[in-house]
Amino acid sequence: MADSIKLNNDFKGKDIISLNQFSPEDITTLFTHTNLMKNIAKNAQSSDILKGNIITLIFYESSSRTFGSFSAAMKQLGGQTVEIQNPQEFSSVSKGETLEDTIRVFEAYSDAIVIRHPQIGTALKAADAASFVPIINAGDGIGEHPTQALLDLYTIYEKYQRLGNLTVVFAGDILNGRTIHSLLKGLSLYKNNKIYLLSPKELRLDPHELSKFIKQGLYIMEIETEKEIPKNADIWYWTRVQKERFASLKDYDKVKNRYIVTKDFLKKYAGKETMLMHPLPRVGEIHREVDTDERAVYLSTEIRNGMYIRMALLGLILGKL
Ligand code: CP
Repeated sequence: MADSIKLNNDFKGKDIISLNQFSPEDITTLFTHTNLMKNIAKNAQSSDILKGNIITLIFYESSSRTFGSFSAAMKQLGGQTVEIQNPQEFSSVSKGETLEDTIRVFEAYSDAIVIRHPQIGTALKAADAASFVPIINAGDGIGEHPTQALLDLYTIYEKYQRLGNLTVVFAGDILNGRTIHSLLKGLSLYKNNKIYLLSPKELRLDPHELSKFIKQGLYIMEIETEKEIPKNADIWYWTRVQKERFASLKDYDKVKNRYIVTKDFLKKYAGKETMLMHPLPRVGEIHREVDTDERAVYLSTEIRNGMYIRMALLGLILGKL
C-alpha cells in the first residue's frame, strides 16, 4: 500500500499519502532543500529546475492555501500545471466518470497528480489507480494532510531549531482535523514531545488512534477547559470545528467556537514565547485583534513556508533535486 511505503531518503517517483512514510532523516532532507527553495523565492531568483514538468491539481474539495501554494510552487521552479477545481462540476466526473478513470486520464497529461477529496482514503485509491506518476495527498476527508504537517514542522523547526522536547497544545476539532492527524504523526517521530488535546468530548481523537500514539511512547493528555492548558507551552495549534463533517447543524452548533483566542485569552493562558499556529481557514476561533501579536504565525510564516516546502517536495518527487 502506497501509504506504508517509506521514503528512505529517496523521494523520486514516490506517492506522498501519509506522514507514516517519513522518518526524521527524510524530514531533514526535505528541510535542507526547503531552505534552498526559500532563497530562490525570497530573492526572486529565477529557477528552471522543473522546466518541462507538468503537474495536475485536482481538488474535489475547496482550498485556498494548498491549491494556491502548489500552483505557485510549480511556477516558481519553471514548471506548469493543469488545474481542476470542483471536478464534480467542471470535468467529466459530472457525467459519472470514476475516480480511477479520471486518474488514468490525468497521468497521461502530467508528471504528478495532487489530489484533495472529501472522503478518507481517496488519495490512496488514486495511488492504486495510477500506473506511471506519483500521487500527492492534499487532504483526504478527515484522514490526513501530509504537506500541511510538513510545512508546520518546518515552521516549528525554524523557531525552535528542534522537533523534540516540545510542549504542544492542539485545540478545536481533534476528531475531524486532518492537519492535526498528520502533525501528530510527525511529532511522534521525535523524543520527549508533550501533547495536550483541548476539545469538547464529542471532538476527541479516535480512541484507537490515541492508543496507537500512546503505545509509540508519545505523551498525550486530553483536556477540556482552557484552565488545563500548561503554562508556557511552546506551540498552540488552533483549528476550526469542521462544519462540513457534521451530520446535522444542531450537532455542529453544540460544539463550535468553544475556545476563542482573543488578546485577553492569550494573556491569560499563553507563554511569552508560545507560537500560535493555525492551518486556516479560521471561522471565529482566533480574533483578528490577535493577528498583529508577534507570536501569531498563521497568516505570515506558515503561509510562506507552505510554498517553500511544496517547492522542495515537488523538486524531490520529480527527481530534480
Ligand atoms: N490549510 C489548508 O489546507 O488550507 P486550504 O483548505 O485553504 O487549502
